[in-house]
Amino acid sequence: MQQEAAFSPGVVYKRLWGYTRNYWLMFVVGIVGVSLDAAMQAVFIRFVEPLIDRVFVAKDAEYGLWLAGGVLVVVVLRIIGHFSGVYGMEWTGRRVVADLRRELFTSYLHLPATFYDRNSAGQLISKLAYNSEQVAQAATKAVISAFRDIMLLTYLLIVMLSINPGLTAVMLLLVPVVALIVTTISRKFRKISRNIQDSMGDVAHVTEEAVVGHHVVKVFLGLDSEQKRFDRVNERTRRLQMRMVATHMISSSMVQLAAGLAMVVLLLVATRPAMLGQITAGTFTAIFFAMVATIPPLKRLTTVQSQMQKGIAAAESIFAVIDSEKEEDTGTEAPRRVRGEVEFVDLSFRYAASEKPILENINLRLPAGSVTALVGPSGSGKSTLAGLLPRFYSYTQGSILLDGRELSMYGLNNLRAQIALVSQNVVLFNDTIAGNIAYGALVDSDRDAVVRAATAAHAMEFIEQLPEGLDTRLGEGGTMLSGGQRQRLAIARALLKDAPLLILDEATSALDTAAERVIQKALKEVMKNRTTLVIAHRLSTIESADQVIVLSQGRVAEAGTHAELLLRGEVYAHLHQTQFSGQG
Ligand SMILES: Nc1ncnc2c1ncn2[C@@H]1O[C@H](COP(=O)(O)OP(=O)(O)O)[C@@H](O)[C@H]1O
Ligand SMILES: [Mg+2]
Repeated sequence: MQQEAAFSPGVVYKRLWGYTRNYWLMFVVGIVGVSLDAAMQAVFIRFVEPLIDRVFVAKDAEYGLWLAGGVLVVVVLRIIGHFSGVYGMEWTGRRVVADLRRELFTSYLHLPATFYDRNSAGQLISKLAYNSEQVAQAATKAVISAFRDIMLLTYLLIVMLSINPGLTAVMLLLVPVVALIVTTISRKFRKISRNIQDSMGDVAHVTEEAVVGHHVVKVFLGLDSEQKRFDRVNERTRRLQMRMVATHMISSSMVQLAAGLAMVVLLLVATRPAMLGQITAGTFTAIFFAMVATIPPLKRLTTVQSQMQKGIAAAESIFAVIDSEKEEDTGTEAPRRVRGEVEFVDLSFRYAASEKPILENINLRLPAGSVTALVGPSGSGKSTLAGLLPRFYSYTQGSILLDGRELSMYGLNNLRAQIALVSQNVVLFNDTIAGNIAYGALVDSDRDAVVRAATAAHAMEFIEQLPEGLDTRLGEGGTMLSGGQRQRLAIARALLKDAPLLILDEATSALDTAAERVIQKALKEVMKNRTTLVIAHRLSTIESADQVIVLSQGRVAEAGTHAELLLRGEVYAHLHQTQFSGQG
């Protein structure tokens, strides 16, 4: 996933800057503190000239006392400045990054399914964890350091000018040199940084696959190949990091070289016989100290550059996600409860990634309250068809009508509120069993309703065996449950929702025949009075459906009741013979 620079650095700065608006007070506290800190550091050096010329050379002992008092004041002010400066700026920076992270997470929630087809979970998690931490570093450490160093350099310059403008001019020769180094190198920093981010994303992606698929990795002896895959991305990341370090060292050495040369020039100029008469020991020492004092901040500015550019590159990639298109939600229809009549009219659909249409010319009617069984070989588009109802994907050809209105006319949440779904892959959250059944909008369901739903889904039987019953925590992904138990929880969740449209996508595939038979009875109960689309592989469900639709390669091959289709002796009859025989 190679990122292109979508924004110019200027735009990114400005946009990041926009986030500080709400926190301007703390930001100002930080700015004032940091400048105070820098100013006091410069004042120290300003003390050198009178210390030598007035106290030691002219033997003014009383002035020595004043200077001692001055140093005490300066030390106290510096501490205050340092504390409030770092605290204020860190506070602001961390707020900004927390806001940015929140916005990124919100984007993840609102992005369409197509986005998730293109990006792996690992990449997206890495963006939230690694990339936004890069912004955090830039927005706190780098900003503080840059600001303090620029202030310090300014004050040092003022100090030097106040001591001897002529000698200071030597110092000014440095400015264009340093500026040139910093600007040429920052582009390079940014480029390497972008590559490091992608590389970190790959590390997360490889890890995610190895961790999630650990059973397969073990049984198919994929340990070596996973290790190799990981080593490759890990090594690439290390190399890029070292390239960053090398670039940084080159730029900081060049700055040091320039500063060193400036000092050589200073020495050459100041020690000429003509100059020796004009310059006191104190003046020279103070200028020399000041000049030495400029080297660390100058060098630090190149470090800051690399941090800043990392932050810019990271912010760029985060803004790209934040700006990407959200799920389309322009509909305004908001009925409390639809009747549930669904009609597909000349519907064709393809995924962005697929070459040929996955669904072609579908014409179907699901009368309100009826049960439609969708059958067909795997890959024929059954799940795709079901997924269009909650508008996971938007279609461009043909239409799907709910109660006679196009799906897009409904508000997205309102549409989804009408649908209960048990999908092929059961998703459970790190919560209690009750919390998993009463999930999302169902969170306020009363306990009795949860128990009723769990009982109807025949989940209560195993829930009661658990140490804390409904209040047992599932842990991540609900790993401690069997496939069949997970499915029963998903069914309970759908039952609790009590929506007019029910979609069951191979909802009972992981259940054994005995468990399934009981659930079938429960489901039959539930299917009453609601429009049900059931993707089925068991004969019993299909036999009792009001109509059976046979999909084949994205087209409706046959439609009718079980008996009609059997009699016809074509696709369904064949399917029946090969897939369902022996189930009766
Ligand atoms: N997110 C996706 N992106 C691209 N192609 C997909 C996606 N999901 C499914 N497909 C493709 O669409 C076809 C139908 O898949 P699916 O609807 O899951 O079939 P079924 O549920 O009938 O087994 C398959 O060829 C599959 O490869
Ligand atoms: Mg499927």
